[in-house]
Amino acid sequence: MKIKVAIIGFGRMGQMYWEEMQKSGEWDIVYICDTQPAMREKAQKLAPPSTRIVEDEDIPFNDPQIEAVGLFTLADSRKRQIEKAVRNHKHILAEKPIADSMEGEQAVVALAEQADILSTVNLYLRNAWYHQAMKQFIREGEIGELAIIRICHMTPGLVPGEGHEYEGPAFHDCGMHYVDIARWYAESSYKTWHAQGVRMWSYKDPWWVQCHGTFENGVAFDITQGFVYGQLSKDQTHNSYTDLIGTKGIVRMTHDFKTATVDLHGIHQTTRLQEPFGGKNLDKLCHYMAQSIRSGVRDEHLPLFRDSAEASRYAWMFLKDAYQNDLPCIGDLQTLEEIKERRKHLKNGYGLLRPAL
Ligand SMILES: NC(=O)c1ccc[n+]([C@@H]2O[C@H](COP(=O)([O-])OP(=O)(O)OC[C@H]3O[C@@H](n4cnc5c(N)ncnc54)[C@H](O)[C@@H]3O)[C@@H](O)[C@H]2O)c1
Repeated sequence: MKIKVAIIGFGRMGQMYWEEMQKSGEWDIVYICDTQPAMREKAQKLAPPSTRIVEDEDIPFNDPQIEAVGLFTLADSRKRQIEKAVRNHKHILAEKPIADSMEGEQAVVALAEQADILSTVNLYLRNAWYHQAMKQFIREGEIGELAIIRICHMTPGLVPGEGHEYEGPAFHDCGMHYVDIARWYAESSYKTWHAQGVRMWSYKDPWWVQCHGTFENGVAFDITQGFVYGQLSKDQTHNSYTDLIGTKGIVRMTHDFKTATVDLHGIHQTTRLQEPFGGKNLDKLCHYMAQSIRSGVRDEHLPLFRDSAEASRYAWMFLKDAYQNDLPCIGDLQTLEEIKERRKHLKNGYGLLRPAL
């Protein structure tokens, strides 16, 4: 039996979920809801006539046949929508962050943990084949004891003022994924940190942050995240890697958004794995969720609201630290305007919002 679902928010992410849910055959998409007429028009063109396209979120929330909701709007409406879903006994597949403040996130965690519904959030790196493979290699003892986690993600992506204002600066909006995955590898809580940021183009908030520190179990980390990587270069590029150093061996990965490459240098084996990158892994998340709803047993691959709240909380704390450590200011707002203008006309670029109709 297909699961009757309502997609709420049909922007960049909502459209990606729609595509995956359609393809899987596990979901019956009964509603698509978006407050913007242009997005509803797009939904009308894409979806079969059996899908109702609505503006008012209360229509799907109040419809008793709806079993699950996909909450893909921006963070400012997430808490309210999660509360409505819990009240109306709908399972929840939510985007991150799960609220637009740390207090809101804690409240949502408490609510969901006592509710009679299943909830999950898209911490997509946890379901990436390359992180699963690297963690397995570590579990097998191939690198000895994990000692150092180094993660870097720099792209010419979303710039300030382009959208996602409720999600916070780049280090929170995107960086919370890396804060999460570092903790997932360390299997411990953050203990100490020092963060350095740069107010690129003289924007009020840092759009590049590097944070290093330790976990309670002694593992050291450094995380570098920035959407400041050559936005005006003729041909754009990016630099993304995860580098895990053990007492005996190392394992690392990099990707070009099409293919991910994992180098395993263990005590018994040296292997290079190369597979399609897998994007946001929404196929996996949607499948684990559908399976869990059908069976009534939560799949262990499904990230918890608590994981998201924890990653968000530390991303905010690391950012707060960056504001206190000099925070130099480089470049001017005119350059930022030039970047925004260029991104407005890009058809295919890093992290573009709201695909053109
Ligand atoms: N997990 C990830 O890797 C990842 C990646 C990108 C974005 N995100 C998250 O996904 C969320 C959506 O991001 P996006 O890039 O798709 O943004 P977007 O701006 O492209 O889409 C948001 C959509 O929600 C609609 N909307 C806003 N309020 C609404 C409401 N009350 N009811 C119905 N529709 C409403 C907007 O009209 C818009 O079409 C963000 O919170 C972001 O943090 C997560």
